[in-house]
Amino acid sequence: MVPEGKETFFWQVDKNCPDPEIIRQAGLILRRGGLVAFPTETVYGLGANALDGRAVKSIFTAKGRPRDNPLIVHVASIEDVYSYAGFVPQKAGRLMEKFWPGPLTLILSDGGKISEPVSAGLPSLALRMPDHPVALDLIKEAGVPVAAPSANISGRPSPTTANHVRMDLQGRIDGILDGGPSGWGVESTVLDLTGEIPVILRPGGITPEDIIAVVGPVEMDISLKKNGCAPGRPRSPGMKYRHYAPSAPLVLVEGDSLEVVREIKRLAREYLDQGKIVGVLCRSGNQGQYSGVLAIAAGTVSDQASVAAQLFDALRRFENTGVEIILAEGVDDRGLGLAVANRLRRAAGGNIIRV
Ligand code: TXA
Ligand code: MG
Repeated sequence: MVPEGKETFFWQVDKNCPDPEIIRQAGLILRRGGLVAFPTETVYGLGANALDGRAVKSIFTAKGRPRDNPLIVHVASIEDVYSYAGFVPQKAGRLMEKFWPGPLTLILSDGGKISEPVSAGLPSLALRMPDHPVALDLIKEAGVPVAAPSANISGRPSPTTANHVRMDLQGRIDGILDGGPSGWGVESTVLDLTGEIPVILRPGGITPEDIIAVVGPVEMDISLKKNGCAPGRPRSPGMKYRHYAPSAPLVLVEGDSLEVVREIKRLAREYLDQGKIVGVLCRSGNQGQYSGVLAIAAGTVSDQASVAAQLFDALRRFENTGVEIILAEGVDDRGLGLAVANRLRRAAGGNIIRV
């Protein structure tokens, strides 16, 4: 149990050259069973010693996370995977060589060394080596594998800055390492390698095309078909929960970009006529198109990475603005856009209009 109102240390570190004394303190807290949030190249993670069941359980309490949603174990080397997984298929070896450290999480069979609450009763284990000097130094210093979900209150947008973490978890965790904004802005790709054909459970920075180029055909989990709103049971427990929930209902409009702008303008007028306060989540080049609404931009049309990097921050910026409905421009779901589209569709919770 993590009591609220506990003192949370806040350390600012240089992303490329973190102060070893700070990393030593944070590593010690982790090793002794405490919770430390740290930057990764995707989003901020909330770390606990993955060998300590009590510490791992306190992650679920601090986040308000359902106990059946397993955690990713973060390691600082490829060799560690051979210690903690039960079996490492050749395809996993090739993918790790190509994409690690980086935004790719591999689901392998569990070797039985990691504490039980991490995998939430599943026979598999999620492993990832983050591409961030602060994360890697921290894991090495802790000297243990680090279980870490995104460092947000469950259901809220993942944190891409230390300040987002502070807003959600201050007083519930032991420390926050501030290494500046995360690079990618969306969480890692989750790839299940426990069967014959790899299955993408969650799209992320490493695209299906990237994976196919290394290991051949991949499948998409059921939760990613029919725009993330398919019935049926996703293989990744996390995909069944409402996620990235903004402070007001979000309507996602997808399709040809000119048509999307036109439809959002029409909807905005309708809601404004009803006396509602309207927010629009758009690309920066389109901000001037919308009047009488609070238009918040995330990235540009020509740069998918900029949309990914700014999306969660933009969702959080609608909070405490009084906005009662958010109309969001969809993105082209090719390449990295698939990960962004998936987050937007889940934020919309099924409220999707196609034009
Ligand atoms: O980029 C990321 O992956 C970030 C950073 C901190 O590393 N972490 C992250 O963790 O996004 P989290 O807990 O927010 O999402 C982990 C996802 C969940 O959807 C969970 O259900 C799934 O991975 N997962 C974990 N272990 C699994 C397993 N054994 N089988 C299937 N899905 C698993
Ligand atoms: Mg999460």
